[in-house]
Amino acid sequence: MQWQQQTCLLTGATGGIGQAIAKALANKGVRLILQGRNESRLQKLSDSLSGEHKILVADITTTQGREKICRVAELNAISMLINNAGVGQFSLLEDTEQAVIVDTLEANLLAPILLTQALLPVLQKANQQQAAQSYLVNVGSAFGSIGFAGQSIYCASKFGLRGFTEALYRELVDTNVHVAYFAPRATATSINSDQAMAMNKALGNNVDSPESVANALIRQLEKGHARQFVGFPEKLFVKINGAFPHLVDKALFKKLPIIKRFLRHEKDVEHTAQEALS
Ligand SMILES: NC(=O)c1ccc[n+]([C@@H]2O[C@H](COP(=O)([O-])OP(=O)(O)OC[C@H]3O[C@@H](n4cnc5c(N)ncnc54)[C@H](OP(=O)(O)O)[C@@H]3O)[C@@H](O)[C@H]2O)c1
Repeated sequence: MQWQQQTCLLTGATGGIGQAIAKALANKGVRLILQGRNESRLQKLSDSLSGEHKILVADITTTQGREKICRVAELNAISMLINNAGVGQFSLLEDTEQAVIVDTLEANLLAPILLTQALLPVLQKANQQQAAQSYLVNVGSAFGSIGFAGQSIYCASKFGLRGFTEALYRELVDTNVHVAYFAPRATATSINSDQAMAMNKALGNNVDSPESVANALIRQLEKGHARQFVGFPEKLFVKINGAFPHLVDKALFKKLPIIKRFLRHEKDVEHTAQEALS
């Protein structure tokens, strides 16, 4: 892996996992274009990293935002695209507003697909003289392989992203673009509400630090693996769910009362907050 020849566009760089990935890549000598929507947070992150990096303020869910991202990526001849930006969802389907459904699918699935399509020619052109490889990494989730109650739209978006990535890996295997799917399990970042974190605790779910997740991504790229599921036993559950989903059904049915307790609690907290504000 020729890290120092890489110029990487990292979406969602200001988030918990994004910041940790940015730091790990900067320490390897990668030049970064750090994308997010908050300029001061991006600048603060850039200032904290070793090396020279650029910041890029844009919303991946708008045509204008994606056009801006593509202009900057092309100008800087990126050789690595990490589609990391994403949003969470923690609600029963019946309580989920249609706008949330659309926003979640746009941010987690449609935007990475459209960015990837627009930037493929740039990745294919990059580093041609040095004959170095280009990289496309899509950040999925364990919930891109295991359907989980209370996160149906998030699961739909990440299942979709996993399918897109696998198809593209098989489509581009004879090109210079290495395609990788990276799937963390629960990680301590602000994508998880307090209720989601409390539920993880009650269910005994493992929660990783963003730094350990970033290190797992570095290892995946160094080994050239097309897929990486972070953490045991989650990576085993992913396999069991693929082969024998009824076994995982049974295990998760038992957890449903606990999951619903936290989803209802979230609803109560929101309701109380709304009442207090009105
Ligand atoms: N944390 C977990 O438990 C976990 C587990 C598995 C997978 N993942 C995946 O890991 C990735 C990173 O998540 P995280 O935990 O680091 O979440 P996070 O801390 O909430 O960060 C999310 C990042 O995405 C950016 N973003 C969201 N919507 C955007 C939009 N419309 N346009 C541009 N940027 C946008 C945010 O930018 P702003 O600063 O502008 O809001 C932020 O930088 C996501 O794809 C997530 O699904 C997370």
